[in-house]
Amino acid sequence: MLPLPLLLLPLLPLVLGLAHPLSSTHSLLARHGLNLRQDVLHGLLSGPGPFPQDPPWTTDYPTSFGGYCAPNSSQTVGTFAGPTLPSLQDLLKRNAFVSRSGTGLELLGEEFRIVGANVYWLGLDENVIPDPSYPSKNRVIEIMGIVSAMRGTVIRGHTLGISFGNPLSIMPSPDTYNEQAYEPIDFAILMARIYGIKLLIPMVDNYNWYHGGKYQFIGWAGIPWSGTGAAITPPDVGAYFYNTSSIVDSFKAYITHHLSHVNQYTGIAYKDDPTILGWETGNELCAVLYNDGPAPPAWTSEIAGLIKSLAPNHLVVDGTYGFYPESGQLQVEVVDIFSDHFYPPSIARFQAGLALTQSANRVYLAGEWDWTGQYGGDSIQSFTAALEAGPGVGDFYWSLFGHDDHCCLYVEHDDGYSFYYPGRTEDMHDRAVVMTQHAYEMNADASPEVVPAVACPQYAFPDELFPPGLNVANLGL
Ligand SMILES: *[C@@H]1O[C@H](CO)[C@@H](O)[C@H](O)[C@H]1NC(C)=O
Ligand SMILES: *[C@@H]1O[C@H](CO)[C@@H](O)[C@H](O)[C@H]1NC(C)=O
Repeated sequence: MLPLPLLLLPLLPLVLGLAHPLSSTHSLLARHGLNLRQDVLHGLLSGPGPFPQDPPWTTDYPTSFGGYCAPNSSQTVGTFAGPTLPSLQDLLKRNAFVSRSGTGLELLGEEFRIVGANVYWLGLDENVIPDPSYPSKNRVIEIMGIVSAMRGTVIRGHTLGISFGNPLSIMPSPDTYNEQAYEPIDFAILMARIYGIKLLIPMVDNYNWYHGGKYQFIGWAGIPWSGTGAAITPPDVGAYFYNTSSIVDSFKAYITHHLSHVNQYTGIAYKDDPTILGWETGNELCAVLYNDGPAPPAWTSEIAGLIKSLAPNHLVVDGTYGFYPESGQLQVEVVDIFSDHFYPPSIARFQAGLALTQSANRVYLAGEWDWTGQYGGDSIQSFTAALEAGPGVGDFYWSLFGHDDHCCLYVEHDDGYSFYYPGRTEDMHDRAVVMTQHAYEMNADASPEVVPAVACPQYAFPDELFPPGLNVANLGL
């Protein structure tokens, strides 16, 4: 094997149009916050395989049962996702922002398609004891390995931004901030960066679940309500989130605090981090009742405008659930991406929303879709094919889970949409294959005949792959 810089040298002029003395590779990478040793040839999953039948590396954890369960999944699918050498192009992509050009996205001058998983629990999880708690590092790293093996480009993660009203939240009580809550979020962002995955982060939830949302702000303003999830009394109380200036101010202060936070592991402020593709004004926002209408366009304009002023290199997704063209939703200029969710998948609904989005010259995102088929709708094959054929369209299935802290049992969640890679049943495995092929298709890549297994725990990373200045011992890996 040639030393890395020699392998990459021919790429340099293509990528950057630079002169190419060998030493410039290192200084180039260093300028991008990357520190790469010549002999680092393993320890990193970066996009697609190759997925060798016989991995050429040795694992530093037991592959027999002995306390670990997950590596056995190789027996069901045949190959392991191998740590692969990132190309210089891959490394540069980690430090580049995804930008919008009309109805499509670009990264380093190439088309960029959003495709990946919803993983809502990366910042705080409710499916573990004690409930809630911050997810373990093993769990977060396994998810990055799975999304990488499935060829995902982006993860949509609610609790990386939605964090209100619990002692473990970023904002446990009105206008107070809990800096401890940032450790798991900083770590998830670090790991996404190392795996070459981008993140889309919603800022507030339309419902009242464990991680909080708009109802915490409403309650803090002294307006009474009760209920969980979407079943809230009185039913129109959610409108106060948009029409009360003290609440809007408090939410804007939260956004400013969150986007200004400096990641303790990377040293990069969230607003300046190319790992973050963008921010969504909220999840499934409706103005009054569930499915009653959009977030008011004036509110979306104000919130999206604040996000753009803080993070001009990031994209903004309108968090409205679906399309309400008569409201003026599509006239909010500062929005980059409009989105809809699919329970069940519906090609007709998708096509209608896509046509509206294209007429507004913006990007379309299927932010959540039901991968299970349990409620009918269009088949997973036909729905993913329609998404692929839609120019610039992106999508995330709902939703990905993995193993517990010890890579042994699956973490169970009760909403009926939990997806486990490479599948816990034959049907789930068949769908995992379709979902993986779909992501390859979105990346304009030939898909693998056999989906790769994902090791849990993931491979140990050479220290050189972490950002300079990070004390890896402090990660507790
Ligand atoms: C892993 O596979 C081996 C060989 O098929 C089997 O003996 C062992 O019981 C498996 N372990 C688990 C945890 O499934
Ligand atoms: C805000 O919305 C609530 C609930 O619909 C409504 O009762 C109230 O009058 C609204 N306030 C303003 C200032 O529009």
